[in-house]
Amino acid sequence: MRRGGEARGPLTARGDQRPTRLSPRSRGRDILRGVPHVIFSGIQPTGRKHLGNYIGAITQYVAGQDRGDPAIYCIVDLHATTLTYDPAELRDRVHDTTAILLAAGLDPERCVLFRQGDVAEHAELCWLLTSVTALGELNRMHQFRDKSAAQRELVSAGLLLYPVLQAADVLAYRAHEVPVGEDQREHLELMRNIAERFNARFGEGLLVVPEHRIPTVGARVRDLQEPERKMSTTGGTEQGTVLLLDEPDTIRRKFKRAVTDSDDPPVLRRGDDKAGVTNLIEILAAVWGAPPQSVEAEMADARGYGDLKAAVGEAVVDELAPLQRRYREIRADEQALEAVLAAGAEKARAIAAPTLADVREAMGVGPPRPRSG
Ligand code: TYM
Repeated sequence: MRRGGEARGPLTARGDQRPTRLSPRSRGRDILRGVPHVIFSGIQPTGRKHLGNYIGAITQYVAGQDRGDPAIYCIVDLHATTLTYDPAELRDRVHDTTAILLAAGLDPERCVLFRQGDVAEHAELCWLLTSVTALGELNRMHQFRDKSAAQRELVSAGLLLYPVLQAADVLAYRAHEVPVGEDQREHLELMRNIAERFNARFGEGLLVVPEHRIPTVGARVRDLQEPERKMSTTGGTEQGTVLLLDEPDTIRRKFKRAVTDSDDPPVLRRGDDKAGVTNLIEILAAVWGAPPQSVEAEMADARGYGDLKAAVGEAVVDELAPLQRRYREIRADEQALEAVLAAGAEKARAIAAPTLADVREAMGVGPPRPRSG
C-alpha cells in the first residue's frame, strides 16, 4: 500500500526530523559568527547493518551532507576491537559498511568518509581525555553494563573506555552536531561532560561542546519480535531484525510475522501499551517521510494488523531496493573502497591534527610549540 499518488519523499529529506537538542538558534548563532557547522558521526563496521541504523542514523548522515561544513563520517574499527572479534574479518566488515554508506547516498565529494584506525589522533586524544573522565561515569554507562554482562571471557578495559574513544572521535573535529539514534544519548551526555571538564581544566573554548541530533521519529526502531527491545544485531532476535541487505521476500516475511497485540477489534494507533503497533507505524512514517499521525489516518480504513504489516513491508522493500542494487555494484571493488577511505583519512587528519596540537600544548605534553614570528 502506498499513499495515493503522492510523491514519496526520500527518507533523507524528511522535514519532520527536528533534532531533540540541537536548537536552530545555536546553529544560527554559529552561522552569524562565521563558524562553519561541523557534523560528525561514527558507525560500527559490520555487514549486518539494520533498519534501525538506517532510519535512526544513516539517513541523517546523508541529509547532513547538505548542512555540514564539513560532514564527517567515521567507520569505527578501533571500537570494534572492544568485544571478541575475528581480526581476519574486520577489514571485510569495514568494506561492507563503506559500501552500505556509499550505496545509501554518502558522496565522498560532499563529505569526509574514513576509517577510524587510519587517523592516529583518535587514539591519542582518547588517552589525553581519560585525564578528565571519572571512572564512576564509565562504570555507570548502560552499554558498558549490558555488554560486559554478555561477555563470556574477558571484559576488556577497552569496553570500559569505549565512550572516551567516542568522545575523542567527535572532539578531535570540534564538531557541533552529532546525528545518532536514541541509544547513544548517554554517550553523548558523557562526551559533553568530558569536553566541559577539559575546557574548565585546560582552557575555555579549546574543545567544542557538541550537541546530539536525535530524530523525533525512528530514533529507537524496535525489534519486530520483541518490541520492548531496540532492533539490534547483537541483542535482538534474528526474525525481528531487518537487515539492509535482506532479500525482499525476507523483509516482507519479517514484517508479516511482526508481533503486534491482541486488541479486538485491532486498534491501528500508537500507544504506550502498544509497542509493536507503534513501532510499525513509526517505521512507516519514517519511510514515507510523514508524521505518524498521517500514517494513522491512512490506516483508518485498514482491515487489521495484516494490512499495516503488508504496507510497512512493501514500503521498506521499496525504500531499500536502490541501496541494495548500488551495494551489489560497488562492494566487489575493494581497491576503490580503500581509495575512498584513504582520501577521507587524509582530509580527516588535516582537521584533527591542529586540534591535537592545541590539546597537547594546553596539557603540556610534548615539546613546546614553536612561537610564530
Ligand atoms: P552503531 O554502529 O551501533 O550504530 C550506528 C547508529 O545507528 C543508531 N541505531 C539506531 N537508531 C534507531 N533505532 C535503533 N534500533 C538503532 N540501533 C542503532 C545508533 O544510535 C548510531 O547512531 N557507539 C556508536 C559508534 C560511534 C559514534 C562515535 C557515534 C563511535 N564513535 C562518535 C557518534 C559519534 C555505535 O556503536 O553505533
